[in-house]
Amino acid sequence: MSLQAISWNEFIDRLLPSEAKHHLWLRALSYLEYIGYRKMVKAVPYAKVNAGVYRHLSDEIQHSFMLREIADKQFGHKLSFEEVENLVEMAESYFQGLDSQVDDWIQEKLGIKDPYASYVWVSYSIEKRAMKVYPPYLAKLSQQPIKLVIQKIIKDEAEHLSYLENLLQKFPEAISLIKESDSLPQAEAEGEAPASFAGWRGRREPLIVKKSNITSPPQADGEGEAPASFAGWRGRREPLIIEQKCFEGFLGRLNNYFEHVKT
Ligand SMILES: [Fe+2]
Ligand SMILES: [Fe+2]
Repeated sequence: MSLQAISWNEFIDRLLPSEAKHHLWLRALSYLEYIGYRKMVKAVPYAKVNAGVYRHLSDEIQHSFMLREIADKQFGHKLSFEEVENLVEMAESYFQGLDSQVDDWIQEKLGIKDPYASYVWVSYSIEKRAMKVYPPYLAKLSQQPIKLVIQKIIKDEAEHLSYLENLLQKFPEAISLIKESDSLPQAEAEGEAPASFAGWRGRREPLIVKKSNITSPPQADGEGEAPASFAGWRGRREPLIIEQKCFEGFLGRLNNYFEHVKT
């Protein structure tokens, strides 16, 4: 089955008029949040679990619960086992593709597997995605109960992004790269996927952040030692490119699946 390319805004516009599709979408989001929680539990060694990690875990599992609850209450029915299994398979395929490709990238750069570094970079790319997905979705929502849930999630995700940006300040190469952030492509600055990634390679790291975006003090004390060496990482932004492609694949598969869903 060939995947139909679709932009995020187009996807929302097709989704919202259909209660069945909207219900499935909220349950897909709920499962993505659940996977994010599960990944963190597995990836962060207990010695590194601090107040910030507890807070982050608590937020993600709460997001999963709120999305599931509002989906089932709002649309008044339960999904079938098969529908849930389809969502699970698509969401896990997205995460597995992202994880394995970021793992490979880190191994290429460091010469060793580093699950904690993978977790940090994958989490950062996911939080960036969350801040591209939730705000346009909120802007098009009209149902008040769902809007309240999404507003709460956006507030939390913005804090998670600041948290991870602060964590990444401990990565030596990221500090020098902050100075290069003024040359971010316009599309990236606006939160839209660039039409093409041609020319992105060799220009910036994935984790360049503007100092002005760092609003809260680090809460990651004791959690974020840098990997042994970042030599050669400069000029790469592969994790964000990898995530973009994985998300586009996920959206394409969901869109194909939704073609067969009754409204
Ligand atoms: Fe979340
Ligand atoms: Fe988050």
